[in-house]
Amino acid sequence: MSVKTVATTPFDGQKPGTSGLRKKVSVFRQPNYLENFVQSIFDSLEGFAGKTLVVGGDGRFYNRTAVQTILKMAAANGFGRAKVGQGGILSTPAVSCVIREHQAFGGIVLSASHNPGGPDEDFGIKYNVSAGGPAPEKVTNAIHARTQEISAYRILDAGDVDLDVPGEQTLGDMVVEVIDPVADYAALMEKLFDFDAIRAMFQGGFRMRFDAMHAVTGPYAREILENRLGAPAGTVMNGEPLEDFGGGHPDPNLVHAKELVEIMYGPDAPDLGAASDGDGDRNMILGPHTYVTPSDSLAILTANAHLAPGYAKGVAGVARSMPTSRAADRVAEKMGIAAYETPTGWKFFGNLLDAGKVTLCGEESFGTGSDHVREKDGLWAVLMWLNVLAARKEGVADILRAHWAEYGRTFYSRHDYEGLEGAAAEDLMNALRGKLSGLSGTTLGGRTVALADDFAYTDPVDGSVAEKQGIRIGFEDGARIVYRLSGTGTAGATLRVYIERYEPDPAKHEGDTQEALADLIGLSKEIADIPGKVGRDAPTVIT
Ligand code: G6P
Ligand code: ZN
Repeated sequence: MSVKTVATTPFDGQKPGTSGLRKKVSVFRQPNYLENFVQSIFDSLEGFAGKTLVVGGDGRFYNRTAVQTILKMAAANGFGRAKVGQGGILSTPAVSCVIREHQAFGGIVLSASHNPGGPDEDFGIKYNVSAGGPAPEKVTNAIHARTQEISAYRILDAGDVDLDVPGEQTLGDMVVEVIDPVADYAALMEKLFDFDAIRAMFQGGFRMRFDAMHAVTGPYAREILENRLGAPAGTVMNGEPLEDFGGGHPDPNLVHAKELVEIMYGPDAPDLGAASDGDGDRNMILGPHTYVTPSDSLAILTANAHLAPGYAKGVAGVARSMPTSRAADRVAEKMGIAAYETPTGWKFFGNLLDAGKVTLCGEESFGTGSDHVREKDGLWAVLMWLNVLAARKEGVADILRAHWAEYGRTFYSRHDYEGLEGAAAEDLMNALRGKLSGLSGTTLGGRTVALADDFAYTDPVDGSVAEKQGIRIGFEDGARIVYRLSGTGTAGATLRVYIERYEPDPAKHEGDTQEALADLIGLSKEIADIPGKVGRDAPTVIT
């Protein structure tokens, strides 16, 4: 086995987005494309000789091929050990868990998250640092810069590793350890949550459905929910990970998790419904005929976290991405803990978590998590809910209503305009930016504008600044409209419009969200001139 140095030339566009490099599989399959990016990652890191790299992905098409290439390149570049999930599988939160648990140097996650998989669909790769979280921007910028000047990569001239047999193998001078993808993660969950109380709840007849959407959480959910917590077989649906996710779109929301939503709104709805995405970091929570928005879920988990053993000592603070509703801020205020508003993207929570400033974090994009790992964590959120339900002995809807009664309700919805022409979308955002300075103090649709800005964030830990993170228009009555362009798409541009309104009066907490927000929705189209700028009268997806 010898190390080969292969000459190469740069590819354009190898710039990591909100969450790593995501492209069509056909792009990744170009000769040297993956190799260039992986070598650029290694070239941007220092001090990994002899250390451990964790490698795994969500099992989508091209996962196994990419894992083999990465292992051979890691060996050729001097890593001492690679821990790889059996079958090349590791959920994103499990990668984070394994990195932390075994003090690895870092990890490579192969996933395009909730985007469809298959030969004509998406693939993705990202690097996670030793704390277990996605690389910060200074690292991803360095990786991108390196991709623009790369001239060679190193790879071991060797046969493939057997990814299906647990245990150690050698690859050149590197040891490859094929690990059970679930073991470390499940052990961590047992430490955080009251498994006895949850098990007793299932024994008492509590029913749930967990939709793994034919993606990576299937094996995790089966082991934890069915084997360890005693939920009946069949609790986990679509639990077999498939390379194309069964042709579906593994995104746990009301549109894509249709099968689960039908069960939860049907005549014999179980007590809890939950789903996770392609790589296992997102979650959706449903009760019978009840949908909990991710923003409300973060607020409720913050208020109830002390009920879980791992959080019994309390929550240091809570962070949410800017477009996430401000429901959690109200909880933080009442609890007397800090609330942080960060740009979209889990990586922005990393410093706050490392510094112990926050315990819980959440995003409107179906992400919730805590300081137990450095990724958002779908099954963790489900277990946290199970623990809260077991401790409070109330249903999902009761907990939701009681929460609104205590803190007020924030009606919240996101409207996505997908498949826009990039230049038109940019133009819409620039025109909005141009208007901002004149908006403050004016009245729009009967509401007075209290704040109009382009969100900029200064990290309180390292002082780094992120600018142009989305346009916020806040009104004096607590209503808010936010505009930003998606950073995760692989085709065209997507405009996201986030609309919220605060309602303190419990007599007005029932009712349809779209109706409750109707006037603001109309206003959101007007302010940005969405029909004029991008030729759309209505969004393509509403969540
Ligand atoms: C990924 C990140 C999340 C982020 C989301 C935003 O899922 O992991 O942290 O919230 O992307 O996606 P968007 O398409 O709105 O940029
Ligand atoms: Zn994901």
